[in-house]
Amino acid sequence: MFDLQQYLDARVDWVNEALDQALPQPTEHPVRLHEAMRYSLFIGGKRLRPILCMATAEAVGGTAKAALPIGVALECLHTYSLIHDDLPAMDDDDLRRGQPTLHKVYGEANAILAGDSLLTLAFEVLAQQPHGAPLSLELAQAAGSRGLAGGQYEDLAEEQHAQNRETLMRIHANKTGKLIRAACRMGGISAGANTDQLDALGRYGQSIGLAFQIADDILNVTSTQEVLGKSVGSDAKREKLNYIACIGMESAQAEAHDLVGQAIKQLDALSGDKAPLQALAHYVVERLT
Ligand code: IPE
Ligand code: IPE
Ligand code: MG
Ligand code: MG
Repeated sequence: MFDLQQYLDARVDWVNEALDQALPQPTEHPVRLHEAMRYSLFIGGKRLRPILCMATAEAVGGTAKAALPIGVALECLHTYSLIHDDLPAMDDDDLRRGQPTLHKVYGEANAILAGDSLLTLAFEVLAQQPHGAPLSLELAQAAGSRGLAGGQYEDLAEEQHAQNRETLMRIHANKTGKLIRAACRMGGISAGANTDQLDALGRYGQSIGLAFQIADDILNVTSTQEVLGKSVGSDAKREKLNYIACIGMESAQAEAHDLVGQAIKQLDALSGDKAPLQALAHYVVERLT
């Protein structure tokens, strides 16, 4: 029987060790900037995107260790997005990963620069990997104005606006779904997957990416700040477009589970070790943090 918790614990350790090696030492000049980058990375985080990247590599016959540096790039980029998302100009949040947000501790300018540096480091790491060009293309397309940054733009612009399901799906797919989809495809690229396999991994990632953001909206209503490590109830307070306000709690839960089923169906096209991807698809919606 596949033990997901044991699997996650082991992989989180690998990712943390690799991140520690990839980041400039906190003693290196400029010390405070390097400290700030490390603060946000090491105060916590599930490491979902690196773990998905390694699992998808293995599902097409590659190795987790070869995909690990790509996971480092993904986590750097993801952490940059969280740092900037929490800034006063965006969500203005005080708590992240169970600790005060970076700008609260290091100031706004340093938080912006630490985010910029992590974003840039992600591409520096990718440039040194085999398949560096297609990997960079994949990540850039997921992170830019047609992906995460564009989704963040619309997420803020749509605040106060009417709850519209189509808009909501597009924002969620862009701000969260595309990076998770890219993590899955990048694992495949690192393992030399063919087009059919990459398409299947992309569809798997797209479905769990959307399910992940629905679960995030649900946890914003049902969880507590202590468990989640970030503010709760904030979507309703800010009248943000979110799944619960849009289609109701029950339908949101049903939709998330439906997406997990759709994701798992995509795995039929793959021949490697699929047990972790099956378990991770369920974890995305059943997680408590
Ligand atoms: C939170 O992502 C932000 C969203 C995209 C919803 P995670 O839930 O993966 O955050 P960490 O990395 O575990 O802190
Ligand atoms: C964060 O979305 C998405 C990105 C950082 C790209 P949210 O603003 O909804 O997520 P949390 O609740 O702050 O983690
Ligand atoms: Mg936000
Ligand atoms: Mg936020």
